[in-house]
Order: sequence, then structure tokens, then C-alpha cells
Amino acid sequence: MNSVKERMIAPEEIRRQKEIMAYVRDIISRTEGGRKAFIETYGCQQNVSDSETISGMLCDMGYTITKDKQEADFIIYNTCAVRENAELKVYGNLGALKHLKTKKPNLIIAVCGCMMQQESVKEQIRKKYKHIDIVFGTHSLYRFPEILSKVVTDGGRVFDVVSSDGAIAEDLPVKREEGPCAWVSVMYGCNNFCSYCIVPYVRGRERSRRKEYILDDVKELALKGCKEITLLGQNVNSYGNDLEEDIDFADLLEMVCTVDGIERVRFMTSHPKDISDKLIDTMARESKICKQLHLPVQAGNDRVLKTMNRKYTKASYLEKIRKIKEKMPGITLTTDIIVGFPGETTEEFEDTLEVLREVRYDTIFSFIYSRRPGTPAAKMEDVISPEEKKKNFDRLLEVQDVISKEKNLELQGKVVTVLTEGKSKNNDLFLAGRTEGGKTVNFQGDDSLIGQFVQVEITEAKTWSLTGRVVD
Ligand code: 5AD
Ligand code: SF4
Repeated sequence: MNSVKERMIAPEEIRRQKEIMAYVRDIISRTEGGRKAFIETYGCQQNVSDSETISGMLCDMGYTITKDKQEADFIIYNTCAVRENAELKVYGNLGALKHLKTKKPNLIIAVCGCMMQQESVKEQIRKKYKHIDIVFGTHSLYRFPEILSKVVTDGGRVFDVVSSDGAIAEDLPVKREEGPCAWVSVMYGCNNFCSYCIVPYVRGRERSRRKEYILDDVKELALKGCKEITLLGQNVNSYGNDLEEDIDFADLLEMVCTVDGIERVRFMTSHPKDISDKLIDTMARESKICKQLHLPVQAGNDRVLKTMNRKYTKASYLEKIRKIKEKMPGITLTTDIIVGFPGETTEEFEDTLEVLREVRYDTIFSFIYSRRPGTPAAKMEDVISPEEKKKNFDRLLEVQDVISKEKNLELQGKVVTVLTEGKSKNNDLFLAGRTEGGKTVNFQGDDSLIGQFVQVEITEAKTWSLTGRVVD
């Protein structure tokens, strides 16, 4: 592993990018009607976070962000490679843009993110999607001003995809969605190489941000009125392993909790093999840390877990859960599950159902295994048919739906503290916010409650949602 200093993009390089941003801003300020940009993001929170940086750089360069693709002068797709479905959607969207580009020849179209780190994808776009002007990968994000400026000034196409262990770029402009909750990345990349997963290949090795940068971000957010922070990383429990300073994730969490104005702290994602007793104790002790944990189990069978390279067993996972529940009774637990991993039999899948029944997660995020070229599992053989996999997947949902409903019903009639985030997504007449456990509650109330903690009595608990009314 390189030293921390070597893994940082040099401040001079960031300054150079800022000069380029000023140069583009100057050009755009002289363009009649200004310039509008449209950003679409696929995949995980890390991508959302990267899009916030892209958005920050675009605004710095004089663009305004629009939600209407048709009126945009610049369109960018930030892509995900974790499952094939998301990739197919991106190809579909890119294809559909051909027509818009014919109508608006000055439109600049870019694609970036995890999908682009795969050579085959990059070549496909080069050859078959000639209306795409810019392709850049995850390691080139900080160079976006330079890439865009080349196309704005000289025209032509730019492909900037490098393979790298990854670096850290600090001090780039970020434009976050406004509201009382924000995400802050604490580390990037992953070293775990779970055999089904593309992330380590497209995001590089684990690298932790220095605590000073993280705390500066959190303090700035608190000054802007943010009350809840979610610390983000592919595997937050190995935070600090690569830093010269003696610091781990539990220490970092405590530091974040000391920031005035921040009332709630969450984090994701934790790897079950790395979650330490120290972290569990810190969570239990510190009142600002939400009693909510996302602990992806992926599968319940030991042979499957071994071929997945997860480095824990069903028993050791359940033992961690037991400890967590003992220290934090009532904690909200969620997980990720993959159904139909190559070689998994239906009998082995029963072990996954057993984990569900034993842990009683509040919610699960479940996926049918998707073959990712270049990962070890891509070469492994299936032993059951796609139809059988789908049947198992449906059974998984059936089992979990009952548990989710029962867990939500436990809240019915109770008064919970909700941080109001904004209008409800499904009904404009309602507001929405989340409980300490991260469950969304919809309730009626005045817009002045947005950003405030309110006491809400849960009046209706369904499998997927909670409805309530504000009490004094
Ligand atoms: N197929 C299906 N699901 C996957 N995940 C990661 N890789 C794959 C894959 N190849 C799931 C895992 C992970 C979540 C973010 O995505 O459950 O925890
Ligand atoms: Fe992928 Fe495993 Fe790393 Fe998570 S821990 S990003 S599943 S390789």
C-alpha cells in the first residue's frame, strides 16, 4: 500500500483543475442564455456522492442544473456496474439520446462511473455509441473540468479511463441536495474481493480520508443546518487501516458525534467479518449514533459463504447479531441477500431463510445473482435453473414481508422521534421523515416542520411504510 501522501491527488493538480473551471466559467458567462446540465445517477450512495461532486464542478463552471433532459446542453450518466440490469438501462438511455443529439448538435453527452472502468464497455461506447462525446472512469473524476473543457473548446471525443488502485482528491466543489440529512464519504474502494462483486475492480483499493477532511465536511454541513450525517464507505469497519495515524472507525464515529448541531449519525456499509466489539460498544454508548445497522449477510449457507469469499460462517454472523441485539435491544437491522449464487442449491438456500427467521431484519435488500465478467464467480457453474432461482427469490420475499410487517406493527400506537426531511415522495399533502431506526414515516404537517425533529404517533403500519400524526 502506498503512503497516505502518495494516495492524495496533489494540491497543485486540484488547483490546476480549479483554474480550468474558472476558464470554462468565463466562456459560459459569455454564452447567451447560459448553459444547463442534466445528471442521472445509478447505483449506490458512493455514486450519488460522486454526482454531488460533478454537480459542484458543473456549477463552478457556470452551469445550472436542470431536471429536464430536453432543455439540457450537457447530459451526464453516472453509471453502476454491480448488476447487469443497471447496465442495460444505461445502454437503453444512451441509445435514446441519439435522436436528441441530432436535434441539438451542440449537446454534449458524457458517461462516467463504474461501468466505464470495464474495457469492454468503453470499447462498445467508442464503436457503437458515436454520439457520446465523453467517457471517463471513477479514477478520473477529479479531472472532469479538464475533460469537459477540451470538448467545449476543441470539440471531438474524450475517453479518459485509467486502471489504478485509486487515489483521494480533496477540496473539490460539492453541491449536495439541500435538507437536514447528508452523506459524507470516509473511505473509498474495497479490498475484500467477494467473488461475485465487481466493486474492487472498478473502485480500486481501500483508502481512508484523513479525519481532518471528514470533520471539516461535517462541521460545514452542521453550519448549513444539517442535523443527520451518514458516514459512507464500501467497508467502513476497515477505516483507518491504511492511515499512518492510529485511528479506527469507532474513534472516527466518536469524533463526528462531538460536532455541534449534528444530532444523528449513521453509517454504511459494515462487513460482518470486520465489525468489532469496540464499534458495537461505541454504538451502544453514544446517544447520537442511531441504533440502526446494515449488515449484509448475502447468504446463509457456509459452503456458499466460503465460495463467495465472505470470511464468516452462518454461526459467527449470528453470534455478532446476538451481541448487537444484547447491547442494543430494539436496534433496526437490515441486510443484503443474493439469491442464486452459482452452485447454490435450493437446500443451501434454506439456510438463508433460516437467517431471516432468526435475525428478523426490519428490511432486506435482495438481488438475484448477476454474472459480472472478470469476477471469479463468473466462471462458476449453476446447479439450478433460472426458474428455480426466481422461485427461491419469491419465497425469500414472502418470508421477509411477513417479518417486515410484524416489525412495523410493533411501532403502531407508539410515539417516535422523526427528523422531517421534506415532502412525501408519494403524496404531496404529506411530509416524510425518518425514525432513529431509519424507517420512513409519512405524516401531515406544515412545511415549517422540514428540518425539525417532531414527535409522531404511528397510526398505520404496513409492510413497506409507516403513517402517523404529529403529537405535541
Ligand atoms: N449480483 C447480484 N447482487 C450483487 N451485489 C453485489 N454484486 C452482485 C452481483 N454480482 C449485491 C450485494 C451487495 C449489494 C450492494 O449488491 O448484495 O451487498
Ligand atoms: Fe463488493 Fe464485497 Fe467489497 Fe462489498 S465488501 S463492495 S460486496 S467486494
